[in-house]
Parts: sequence; C-alpha cells; structure tokens
Amino acid sequence: MCGIVGYIGPKEKKEILLEGLQELEYRGYDSAGIAIIEGDKLNNYKAIGKLENLREKTKAYKSEGFGISIGHTRWATHGKPTELNAHPHLGAYSYVVHNGIIENYQELKVELQAEGVSFLSQTDTETIVHLFEKYYNKSNDAFPAFEETIRRLEGAYATLLITEAAPDTIFFAKNGSPMLIGFDKDEVYFASSDTPIIGKATEVYYLEDGEYGYVKEGTVHLFDSNGSKSFTKQALTADKVSAQKDGYRFFMEKEIYEQSHVMGDTMIGRVLDNSINFEELDENFFEGINAIKICACGTSYHSALTSAYLFERISKVRCDIEIASEFRYKEPLLTKDTLFITISQSGETADTLEALKMAKRAGLKSLSICNVDNSSIVRESDAAILTRAGIEKGVASTKAFATQMMVLWMLTLYVGQEKKSISKEVLHKEIDAMLRTPKALVVTDELHAKLQRLSKRYLHGHGFFFIGRDIFFPLALEGALKLKEISYLHAEGYPAGEMKHGPIALADSELFTIALMPKTMHYDKIKSNVEELSARDATILAISPEPFDLADDFIQTTYDSHPMLEFFEMMVVTQLLALEISVRLGNDVDMPRNLAKSVTVE
Ligand code: F6R
Repeated sequence: MCGIVGYIGPKEKKEILLEGLQELEYRGYDSAGIAIIEGDKLNNYKAIGKLENLREKTKAYKSEGFGISIGHTRWATHGKPTELNAHPHLGAYSYVVHNGIIENYQELKVELQAEGVSFLSQTDTETIVHLFEKYYNKSNDAFPAFEETIRRLEGAYATLLITEAAPDTIFFAKNGSPMLIGFDKDEVYFASSDTPIIGKATEVYYLEDGEYGYVKEGTVHLFDSNGSKSFTKQALTADKVSAQKDGYRFFMEKEIYEQSHVMGDTMIGRVLDNSINFEELDENFFEGINAIKICACGTSYHSALTSAYLFERISKVRCDIEIASEFRYKEPLLTKDTLFITISQSGETADTLEALKMAKRAGLKSLSICNVDNSSIVRESDAAILTRAGIEKGVASTKAFATQMMVLWMLTLYVGQEKKSISKEVLHKEIDAMLRTPKALVVTDELHAKLQRLSKRYLHGHGFFFIGRDIFFPLALEGALKLKEISYLHAEGYPAGEMKHGPIALADSELFTIALMPKTMHYDKIKSNVEELSARDATILAISPEPFDLADDFIQTTYDSHPMLEFFEMMVVTQLLALEISVRLGNDVDMPRNLAKSVTVE
C-alpha cells in the first residue's frame, strides 16, 4: 500500500527518499515518485513499476544542498498505475504526496474545474494541491492556505506538501492514515511508518488524527482544531532490522524458517511454569466480560477463527468472529460485557481500525493483538499484546500468523485462569505443549526438499481444495489463501465434512485435495471425507502422522499428543507448499501481483 517519505535538511535528499521508499517497498506498490526543492530549483521524477526504474531515471541527478523533499510509493486506488497518476502531484508551483482516500474529491474536483483548474491525473490526491494553490493565490500566505485546504478534505489522509511559495518549509497533515515525524538535530524526516527513518532519526513523534502543521528551520509547528499545540518526542530505536534475506531466496522463505525462533520471543515472560502472564493487561481487565468478539481481515481473520474454537473449548467464554469489512456495515448488536479484540499484523488495516473505532464508540473494552508497536490499531486500543514476530516483509503473511496463533492460545489460557474455568491439570498440559512449539516449527532439509520435489505435480489442474476439521478448518482456509496469493492458482479452504454438500461435484483427477489429517483430532471422520474424494478420483496430498494408503502424495508429520503442535507443523507444510509452487511458476514470491502488505484503504 502507499508509502510516504519526506526530508528537510542539508543531506543528499534523493538518496534519503529512495532509501526510505525502499524500506516501504514490501508494503506493495505500482509506481513511485519524488519531488525536491533546492533554492529555486524544483525537480520531480516519477516511474511506474519497481523503484529500480525511479533509481535509473534519477541516476544523473544529485541534490546535495539544503532543501525540502517528498517521496511516495503508490498502490493504485483512483486511476490506473501510470506515471501521470503517480505521486507527487503537481499544481502550478507545488507538489503533494498523500496516503488514504479523499472521499469528497469528486465534489472538490468539480468545484476546481468550474474555476478553470485542469487536472492531469485521475487521482483524488491531485485535488489537494489545486485547493492549496487556489487558497494561496488569494492570500499569498502558505500556511493559512494549507490550513484552509485541510479543512476542506473529508476521508483519510496522511499528506505532505511542498511549494515554491515557501521553499524552506514542508507542510503536513494526518487524519486516519499513519504518519510520523523523525528528528536528528536540525534535520526533520517524515514517513508513513518508522522503518524508513530508523538509523537516520534518533527521536520520533507519531502524529495523531486531526494534527497538521509545518516544519521550518528544524522546528515543527504543530496544530489541531484547537490551535497550536506542543508535543513530546520519544526515542526511536536504532536497531535497524536488516533488509537482507540472510541467504534465503525470498523474505517469505526466511520468515517461514524464522517461525521456530520467534515463537520463543512471543512466549518470553508470558509463559511461566504454572501460569500465563500478560504484563500488558491489568488485573481487572476481564472483570465484567462475558463474551469475546474478534474482528480482523485475511490471514489475521484466520487466526481469529481458530481461536474461537479455543476460547469456547478451553476458556468457556462465548466467542464470535467477524470479518472487519462486513462488521462495519452490518449494524451489529454490541453489548458492554463483550471484549472487542482486533488482530492485525500491520496495525494499519483500514477496515479493522474502523471496526475498532465503532466498537469503542459503542462503549466496548478493546484489546489488540498486533505485530507493530505504536501502529494506529495499537494506539486506538485500550490494551495491546504485541506478537513479537519481528518485521514481516513477505506480502504473504507467515510468521505473523504463527505468532498471532501463539498469543491467542496463551490468551485462552489466561482468560481461563482469570475466569477460573480451567483446571490446573489442563493448564499444565497446555503450557507443556506450548513450550514444545518451537520444535514443531523447525523446517528440516528433508521436509523442504520433499516439498520442492513434489510441487512440480501441482502446477496445473482446475483447483485446490484444502480441507480440515475443527481448528484445522481455519488452517485449511489459511493454506488456500497462501497458495492463491502467490501462485495465482484457484484454491479454497473447506470444512472436510462439508465437501459432500456441493464441492464434491468438482472431484476428478485434476482436482487437488490437500487433506489436513491430524491424529489428535477427528482422524476417522476426516479419513472418511478424504476417502469419499478419492473414490471420485480426486488427487490427494495427505498431510498426517498416519500413513494413508489412498494418498497420491503424502507428507508425514510427527505423532503428537497435542492438536496445536500438529496445527503448527501442518501450517509450515502448507506454507512451504505454496512457496515452492510459486517458485516453480516463476512468480514474485515476496511481492505478488495486485497485493499490498498493509491495506490502508477500505
Ligand atoms: C495474507 C495477508 C493478508 C493480511 C490482511 C490483514 O497473507 O497478509 O490477508 O492478513 O490484509 O492484514 P493485517 O494483519 O496487517 O491487518
């Protein structure tokens, strides 16, 4: 999704912008651009496709003196991914970059066109720069013109504007889309998340919704609807997580291998000998809570679905799961004895964030499970539990899902403890299994080689059905999502027992069934479901500890006494299967077509 970087200071601005945008690349984009003003020199470059194209275009350009600069990676929403639609957008003498959506842009555009303004792009963003120039042309005063502009905008935005009318100033505003300001002595940075400025700025301020202002001579002037305001900077970590792939071919591959290790991090200080501890939750957090509602999107929704089985079975608390984009418009009945949980890797997913705001307006207590500290969802929630997966760069989420699952599993035990609905023996058994999780996630050379070999048989056909029962049904959904995201092959996740109610009509040798057949959960039931498919000649890849005669291909997992350990082991198998199929098809594993890492539009 779109990314913003800005810098004001004496350093080589082009490099700062390009390096910063590179850090945001993993979020997905289809074009990029920069605009720099040094003295009276204004330079602007845009390119569609990868950042390399912009780098190539700007090869001969250097920007070494003091100046102001803004850059952007665009993920198309209004208008095609063309150079004209790429940001920064130009007025007569100003440039703007913007993340989010200006909902009233049509109305503003009509108004400006009626006044003689011509638009070059199909974007909503271009209205910002023309509005600014309209007001500046009247007042000859840049900041009031910017303020007036911001007042006219409806929707979500994080925006930076530079203008020849004030060549030493960057104007900024935030509402609903993330933006932060970084500081290093007299130099000031802007970015839509902190990764582009780690290692450059030492302190940071995360802008709140409704804040806007300008930076001039190293000083930030901050305002909101009540006028000028002060703010407190906080230290920014210097620990730049290496963008290196550490010898792996893809970030996704590296992240699959990292899962075993990061699960340890997720548990530190939380899984104790005889109990689960969350420092993030105060003692009375669950007081008065009789039900849980979880809202999320995509992969995070799948971890939520899995957890509903655990919350009801282990903690004995009613738990409903909602897809955030559906929840927002269904006029849900919300009661104050419900804890509203959001799950998000990025913490910036627009639908999840808006669902959270709705629940808060209804007076519900909120908790987020998130991978990015200080993200919008974390800041909006009453309490937050971080998943500690580390930065996830592959667009297809892997380690974030694994760590979300671990947090949710811990949380079910924690709720059980608090509500006294779990016995000491069960708690002990669960903790014992939890501590064995990192081992279940180790990728062996043998397993990876086997999936590499086997993937060549799964590059065609008319579709994949991932099937499972109980918690292995959401895992089937997740396996199918991983495969379709990066292979572009059609895949569905289905409850195994439901196949006979329709989808079995598709069964023939070209229908690939990936059967999740754990030994600890309804093995005989799922075995019968797979036999029914095999009898109709479907091609079966069985994943199970138990050898299965009817399987065309078989991946043997470990016999274990705990379903969650089987769950995690099978999760790794489905992730590697998707990866290897995608590699064989020659796809861009880390940046699949049409997808973005952080979905900040509705
Ligand atoms: C799938 C994937 C997406 C995200 C979804 C929600 O691999 O990454 O389905 O899970 O866009 O994103 P977050 O978790 O950041 O809210």
